[in-house]
Amino acid sequence: MLRNRISGRGRTKLKRNIKDVLAEKLEPEQVNRLYKTYDIVGDVAVIRVPEEFEQFSQEVAEAIMSIHREVKSVWMQSSSVSGDYRLRDLKHVLGKKTTETIYREYGCIYKTDLRQAYFSPRLSFERMRIAKLVQKQETILNMFAGVGCYSIAIAKHAEPLKVISIDINPFAFKYLEENIRLNRAEKTVVAFQGDAKTVTETKF
Ligand SMILES: C[S@@+](CC[C@H](N)C(=O)[O-])C[C@H]1O[C@@H](n2cnc3c(N)ncnc32)[C@H](O)[C@@H]1O
Repeated sequence: MLRNRISGRGRTKLKRNIKDVLAEKLEPEQVNRLYKTYDIVGDVAVIRVPEEFEQFSQEVAEAIMSIHREVKSVWMQSSSVSGDYRLRDLKHVLGKKTTETIYREYGCIYKTDLRQAYFSPRLSFERMRIAKLVQKQETILNMFAGVGCYSIAIAKHAEPLKVISIDINPFAFKYLEENIRLNRAEKTVVAFQGDAKTVTETKF
């Protein structure tokens, strides 16, 4: 398998990936349906396994943990995103039974709990794209701030005057406040918990 062969100093070693690990246990068709259906957020992996392959969730989880040594727990998404808080149900598959984690991207730190607040690592490029659109000394209103990813990316990568950040979910708000502190963004990011309509009508 040439694509997995990487050169070291004077020696060659094999770099295994999820596909290789699953291929030891499953049929090629099963491997192709399963090997890229996961996200890693800090030390938590979330897998999306098609219903007809749910019996293989343990194998997928083991493969992920054997390749991604930073992953300490694996959860399976068992519903789509729903409700005002935009949450998804997660079923424990392997490892620690916590979904609280710390995720780092572009010099920002985001603490979150994947069962209590919306979070997507797939939006990292979009967060940077938005941050780059912000003008110097602009005031930004982020009405659906979640745990603060956009607000903090803007505070860190642009030069706004203020980033007003609102979220209705008390858990998301708790992490939003913590993330403001973790990223030393207290001077720029201001957080409010509540319905964005009410907050904007009553606070400004
Ligand atoms: C899809 S999530 C996006 C969160 C964040 N922008 C991100 O990308 O991580 C939408 C967020 O809006 C919040 N939300 C829903 N209805 C709201 C409302 N009426 N006022 C304030 N926040 C609200 C939810 O709690 C949720 O955190």
